[in-house]
Amino acid sequence: MHHVPERIVLVTGASRGIGAEVAQQLADPNTHVIVNYREKAKRAEDIAQAVRDAGGHASTLRADISDEADATAMMESIETRYGRLDALVLNASGGLEMGADPGYAMRLNRDAQRRLAQLAVPMMPVDGRIVFVTSHQAHFFPNKAVPKGYSAVAASKRAGETALYAMRAVFSRAGVRLTVVSGDMIDGTIIVRLLQRRDPDAVKARRVHGTLPTVTEFSGAIVSSVTMPSPPGIVYVGGADYLMTA
Ligand SMILES: NC(=O)c1ccc[n+]([C@@H]2O[C@H](COP(=O)([O-])OP(=O)(O)OC[C@H]3O[C@@H](n4cnc5c(N)ncnc54)[C@H](OP(=O)(O)O)[C@@H]3O)[C@@H](O)[C@H]2O)c1
Repeated sequence: MHHVPERIVLVTGASRGIGAEVAQQLADPNTHVIVNYREKAKRAEDIAQAVRDAGGHASTLRADISDEADATAMMESIETRYGRLDALVLNASGGLEMGADPGYAMRLNRDAQRRLAQLAVPMMPVDGRIVFVTSHQAHFFPNKAVPKGYSAVAASKRAGETALYAMRAVFSRAGVRLTVVSGDMIDGTIIVRLLQRRDPDAVKARRVHGTLPTVTEFSGAIVSSVTMPSPPGIVYVGGADYLMTA
């Protein structure tokens, strides 16, 4: 008989960076990881293959999550194929892309996150998980300074987090748990390399407070929020100075 894994997990933006690492850390014979990507089918397929090579199950699903029709089609396809979704990792994010219009950050980092959560809840069992991935720069916005050029993205990600908190009653009625995982700048990522070019002092200033968390460490915290019993509402990774003076 066709083996249906116990846990179906969708990771948005899993074709590279933190999402790709999360997908790979989820590799397990009892988990099916759905690797969502926007454009790069080959990269997404390589990540799915890496999950399978590690003994897990995985498939890829293309959707620009900021596009309502794409997002709806993705969720319908999951419903048809698996009949349920046990965990939704809201990792995909953006707004710093060249040529992005001024409304794009809000459409992606707020509206798309809320829409995916709304579409996911009816497919989730009791103890389903929604994990929202964010940065300290966004989580603490506007109370802390952000690097030059990052305010619009920080504001939109903060708005996405607030929009999810506004759905708490919906989550709790369905028995779904929301965990926000917030990280300091994560060493070696494209975003930090980009910020390094735009505002080198901001990156240097973060390093003064100690070693920046790694992709492995940050992804581990995200994966734990999916797999551990009774996950906390919020998990902070790195940036202890933010927390002391928050
Ligand atoms: N990097 C850091 O220092 C840091 C720190 C704290 C928190 N975080 C958070 O961690 C998460 C991942 O960050 P990252 O550094 O890994 O980002 P990244 O390297 O920019 O990767 C973003 C991923 O999201 C996908 N994506 C972007 N727009 C999309 C859309 N409209 N629809 C579907 N997928 C889309 C990208 O796909 P394509 O390849 O097709 O573009 C890519 O797979 C974000 O929520 C970020 O805020 C990052």
